[in-house]
Amino acid sequence: MSGTEDLVLEDVTRHYDMQGGGVHCALSRLNLRVSPGEFVALLGPSGCGKTTALNCIAGLTEISSGSIHVAGRRIDQLTPDKRNVGVVFQNYALFPHMTILDNVAFGLRMRGMPRAQRHAKAMDAIRMVQLEQHAHKHPAQLSGGQQQRVAIARAIVVEPDIVLMDEPLSNLDAKLRIEMRSEIRRLHERVRRITIYVTHDQDEALSMADKIVVLQDGVAHQVGTPQELFSLPRDLDVARFMGYRTLLRGACRAGGGETRVQVEVGPGCTLQGLRIDPHLGERAVAAIRPDEFRIADDQAANLIGGEVRSAEYYGRESLVVLDSAAGTLYAKLPGSFAIGSRLRLHVPADRVLCYAESAS
Ligand SMILES: Nc1ncnc2c1ncn2[C@@H]1O[C@H](COP(=O)(O)OP(=O)(O)O)[C@@H](O)[C@H]1O
Ligand SMILES: [Mg+2]
Repeated sequence: MSGTEDLVLEDVTRHYDMQGGGVHCALSRLNLRVSPGEFVALLGPSGCGKTTALNCIAGLTEISSGSIHVAGRRIDQLTPDKRNVGVVFQNYALFPHMTILDNVAFGLRMRGMPRAQRHAKAMDAIRMVQLEQHAHKHPAQLSGGQQQRVAIARAIVVEPDIVLMDEPLSNLDAKLRIEMRSEIRRLHERVRRITIYVTHDQDEALSMADKIVVLQDGVAHQVGTPQELFSLPRDLDVARFMGYRTLLRGACRAGGGETRVQVEVGPGCTLQGLRIDPHLGERAVAAIRPDEFRIADDQAANLIGGEVRSAEYYGRESLVVLDSAAGTLYAKLPGSFAIGSRLRLHVPADRVLCYAESAS
């Protein structure tokens, strides 16, 4: 199997009428172009519009305005069964009274495929998710992870142009969730359809997707590769969501050329960083990920001191929270640390991202 269709969303918007009047914009002018075989993650906190976006593509929710095309054909006016999409839901949504084989073959039966043929095709899909020895069981006899694999087999068996997955791993325990990431990615490599994968988990999105769309309050803040999102979040909202936990505010001065700025984050403490906002004003926020801090040795610049407020020990390293004159610091550091001890930390200038304060 190989996907040859592309998916284009143009200004896709969905409003909901609110009780007592007014409208709520669950999704606002989403623009997205997905290439054949691409794996795209829609990433964002709960309520940001991820399920709405997925349901708009599936046809389970009508769009208020905009358009959706697959391979140049407009699909947003079509009923779900005419769109050739396969959907995997968070809660599996299997038919409890049917065997695994009948669950997977269901979509083929709806398309009028004769019994022998649909069973053979369903068995192929069941084999692909490695459940052949369970084909004649019922869903209740399977574990959560196995049930979710049945749901995936059911979605891909109809050879959809697009596979849509809505937080498919969120009901599984932590260990299985991590195993299933590579399992789903492996299946994606095999069937090579467009996959749109909804999650609120950055690690899931970073490890699985070719492209990530960060949604917040119904608006796409950034679309990029995992590397782009991780190392250069476009705005402070995306930065926060990508784990830039230390946020230090201060007066901003130009320094070190076009791309560098100096931010005076506390008395006698100035950090050099990267200018992310082209229009930085007089005040800026310096955003830093916990793993960018080091215990300072002989570095002369970009030093910041603090007192350990708390430290969570994880074996090889600790997540240390420090009070500094500039604000709270969150640093991942090797070793263990006594509460109340003072540390001097260094952070490389190209890992201090500076945003306009008004954007916070
Ligand atoms: N049927 C509905 N009626 C009214 N508001 C809705 C409906 N479905 C979703 N919403 C609202 O739209 C926003 C986005 O919801 P949703 O897409 O489910 O978010 P997510 O999947 O990212 O958690 C939320 O504020 C939610 O309350
Ligand atoms: Mg949702």
